[in-house]
Amino acid sequence: MKILFASSEAQPFKASGGLAEVVGSLPKALRKRLVGARVVMPLYDSIAQELKDSMTFLCSIIVPVAWRRQYCGIFEARSNGVIYYLLDNQYYFKRANGIYGYYDDAERFAFFSRAVLEMLPCLDGYHPDVIHCNDWQTALVPVYQTVFYAKAPAYQGIRTLFTIHNIEYQGKYGMDILTDVFGLDASHASLLEFGGDINLMKAGIECADAVNTVSPSYAAELLEGRNAHGLTPIIAQRSAKFSGILNGIDTEVYDPAVDANIAANFSAESLMGKARCKAALQELFALEQDSDVPLIAMITRLASHKGIDIVMQKLDHLLQTSNMQFAVIGSGEWRYESFFGELAKRFPGRVGAYIGYDQQLSHKLYAACDMFLMPSVSEPCGLSQMIALRYGGVPIVHETGGLRDSIRDSGDGEGNGFSFAEQTPEALDATVRRALQGYENKAGWQTLVARCMACDFSWGQSANAYIRLYKSIIR
Ligand code: GLC
Repeated sequence: MKILFASSEAQPFKASGGLAEVVGSLPKALRKRLVGARVVMPLYDSIAQELKDSMTFLCSIIVPVAWRRQYCGIFEARSNGVIYYLLDNQYYFKRANGIYGYYDDAERFAFFSRAVLEMLPCLDGYHPDVIHCNDWQTALVPVYQTVFYAKAPAYQGIRTLFTIHNIEYQGKYGMDILTDVFGLDASHASLLEFGGDINLMKAGIECADAVNTVSPSYAAELLEGRNAHGLTPIIAQRSAKFSGILNGIDTEVYDPAVDANIAANFSAESLMGKARCKAALQELFALEQDSDVPLIAMITRLASHKGIDIVMQKLDHLLQTSNMQFAVIGSGEWRYESFFGELAKRFPGRVGAYIGYDQQLSHKLYAACDMFLMPSVSEPCGLSQMIALRYGGVPIVHETGGLRDSIRDSGDGEGNGFSFAEQTPEALDATVRRALQGYENKAGWQTLVARCMACDFSWGQSANAYIRLYKSIIR
């Protein structure tokens, strides 16, 4: 079985969030199960030079973008035994500020999606059984496969899977670009149109042979009309081909026993190293050196669906009335960035904030923290809570989507975290206090940390679930 992942980002080449983690680790897990998995992504100019140096040029092709004819260089690289194709066009992918958010994103990813299909005949007999597409940036792959390629000999039998990592970002554009940018005519409009606009997320759902999202609970929420940002009717119509599979994490990358990014290594059997990681982090974030004070961490994009608003309402009071430290790594909306920046100034030695995205630093904070806060309003899967567990940080989460599927409240003496059902400031406050109280009982806390670290969120079961899903659509 041959699977080609198409994605706008993938570790280790380019990452802005969880999507890159998944596309950077699931193919590796599939290969361990003898499934041939490769990845195709854009060759962003901002990819680190040493990674660019590791790529080899294969060939170039001309890709139609409606009436345009655009150059596309095809480069190959390897990471963890997985072959990556990186598609080059500097006009589209040499941009100064990040990988998304440009006026012509629709055209950039139409080019990419079309190029994914156009490159296949140039790859020496490589013929994937499934193109596994991810989020709206690659939603045109199933559309183009259906409209332009399905009958062509080189594309016979290629099936498509469309994975929704977050339905909030849909790729909405005016209908006027249907022909001029996407190269489709009015007879195809119904595949893409939703609520009077082009909606690429909808188009992917319509055209792919199967559709899934990244946790069973989020799948159920989308079907029931929660957190679906308007698309429930479309998903409900297509429920027969829709499912949820919980993401896994790369347990080799996130392994406190060997992680080179952290001050000292540790494992559930010997937590000495974790104490040293905490001391090192306290120094790095200019927090008071105190091994006994519980350290609560957040590592997150600072977007409203991450639940930052209720944190803003309660954190001040929590800090004033309890013995705790708080450290955050994140970037995003200005109002959140400035809140945390200000908070760090108001509580020197007790609050630390790093505004930005820094992978190494994230590892250090995972390793150092006692508790990991994730109050997301909605969370398709969430990987941070799984990573935190692995490093012995006890998750405090809102019961939604993948958080609900991975974290169980420890009130029953068996769970692996603390959770709240209603996403309200009061519930957050009460649950954090419950965790802080739990921390006071040293022996009980150690048992809880050991239970967290023993949780298995490696790809195993989920990779097998993907293999079953691929098989179900391959004819
Ligand atoms: C998106 C979702 C997140 C998920 C990740 C990987 O970033 O918001 O919940 O874990 O994709 O699927």
